[in-house]
Amino acid sequence: MIKQAIIPLAGLGTRLLPLTSVFAKELLPINGRPAVEYILDECIEAGIKEIILIISDKKKMIKDYFFQDSFYKKILKKKKDPRIKREYQKILRYKKMIKFVYQNKPLGTGDAVMKTKKYIKSNYFLMLLPDDLIIQDNCSKSMIDIHRKYKSSVMASMRVNKKTVSRWGIFSLSKKISNNNYFINDVIEKPKINDAPSNKAVIGRYILPKKIFSEIKKLKPGKGGEIHITDAIQNLINKKNLFIAHNFKGKYLDCGTMHGYINSTLEISKL
Ligand code: UTP
Repeated sequence: MIKQAIIPLAGLGTRLLPLTSVFAKELLPINGRPAVEYILDECIEAGIKEIILIISDKKKMIKDYFFQDSFYKKILKKKKDPRIKREYQKILRYKKMIKFVYQNKPLGTGDAVMKTKKYIKSNYFLMLLPDDLIIQDNCSKSMIDIHRKYKSSVMASMRVNKKTVSRWGIFSLSKKISNNNYFINDVIEKPKINDAPSNKAVIGRYILPKKIFSEIKKLKPGKGGEIHITDAIQNLINKKNLFIAHNFKGKYLDCGTMHGYINSTLEISKL
């Protein structure tokens, strides 16, 4: 069973500058709620019991957000406001399940994942990238069901415009397993249009095996000088480990760009 999730939050968020010069993008409100809460709720609904947030010293405000007990207690003593009480209880529920680890130099997603090594207990764990919101259907839950059925790793996949493939990790897929699921032959990080084997892109939900840690350890910096999780995944695929691409049903919202961030509030407000 998959009971642990990790969420890398230690990136610089340069695409949302200047906001991110002083603020963690994952706390920016989407329709009135911090972005990270949508991701935490997706985990909880999918049956996750422990969530490891990878932050940095610069993003300590994310930890502070969940650790304001004396502040809330003081306010609640003075003001018996049921809304504040509800919000505080919600935060306490999150706080019970989360742990923090630090990646103070943003050396890439692979390096961020590596920081969680000593906390991962089972053979598989879930990873969610918080810039990728998926609404209307719980993608993590569907992926956990697929993992249970095929005992393999799973990655979320979405068809993207051919002209934009160089912005994404792109799959080369092999056998179709069922309507929305395919075995993965290769994952290529940000290919040129002519080199892209498909227009099916990796979206930020992964069920990864514990053995990914020993693959990450062997990696040299890849594209952009960063340690990419996709490079470790490709090495596991080369060693005949099964990875499934899952075309999720929900609606994808890219919160990592200003346009996408604004649009995500509009979309969620319609729900
Ligand atoms: P991105 O590289 O897409 O986003 O990382 P970013 O670094 O936050 O923002 P930009 O690209 O500069 O605008 C995807 C996810 O991985 C995390 C990020 O916080 C983001 O959630 N990440 C990235 C890390 O935790 N550590 C890293 O070294 C790199």
